[in-house]
Amino acid sequence: MKKLEMLYEGKAKKVFKTEDEKRYVIEYKDDATAFNGVKKGTIVGKGVINNKMSALLFKMLEEKGIPTHFVELLSNREMLVKDVQILPLEVIMRNVAAGSLAKRLGLEEGVVMKTPVLEFCYKNDDLGDPMINEYHIRAVELATDDQVEKVKEYAFKINEILIDFFKERDIKLIDFKLEFGLHDGEVVLADEISPDTCRFWDANTNKKLDKDRFRRDLGDVEEAYNEILGRLQ
Ligand code: TMP
Repeated sequence: MKKLEMLYEGKAKKVFKTEDEKRYVIEYKDDATAFNGVKKGTIVGKGVINNKMSALLFKMLEEKGIPTHFVELLSNREMLVKDVQILPLEVIMRNVAAGSLAKRLGLEEGVVMKTPVLEFCYKNDDLGDPMINEYHIRAVELATDDQVEKVKEYAFKINEILIDFFKERDIKLIDFKLEFGLHDGEVVLADEISPDTCRFWDANTNKKLDKDRFRRDLGDVEEAYNEILGRLQ
């Protein structure tokens, strides 16, 4: 399908219109940012890895009953997706304390949560994606109650599926961020699922195999991204 004008350029992706008004092309970039764009860099090959990994996971989730925006892989860096209107929510699921949750609750990174924790953030770069709850969502109409219920149902189901999927590959799924959109009025999983948006630890060594290696200057960034994709294929 022919790419037409660019609709939107984000920190890690570009979105293009196509000849079919119901289909967009997403192109994944090697650009990496952290701390709301304050830290900038390049992770060579990241775009290819995130594209391939997201495609593989969207396909697997779709087969297990989660509707997604994914249609097909087009090239190393591009996928065809359904047109969605993204809900302005970042949906975070956590199984193990890390990052901002560890800080907020004063927990050591690695403490296992008794039950999965779902958090909402308001997707707004100018505000630094502040954490919100369902009352904020309802009060300023970021999504309807029915949409929020669907988002929560899907997020918990996706967590269960992904925990098992990664466990079989000797990877602990610590936490991750999802975005959902509306396609023909229905809630579907959108955006990406990749080492940019998840925390993955090696099941045996707890070595970080995700974007924390870039955020925290841990080295071996490209190697970690390659390692994760290699274990999935
Ligand atoms: P946090 O611990 O920094 O709040 O991150 C929680 C999860 O969300 C982690 O897997 C990384 C992911 N994440 C994003 O995908 N985008 C972001 O902008 C941030 C801050 C986190």
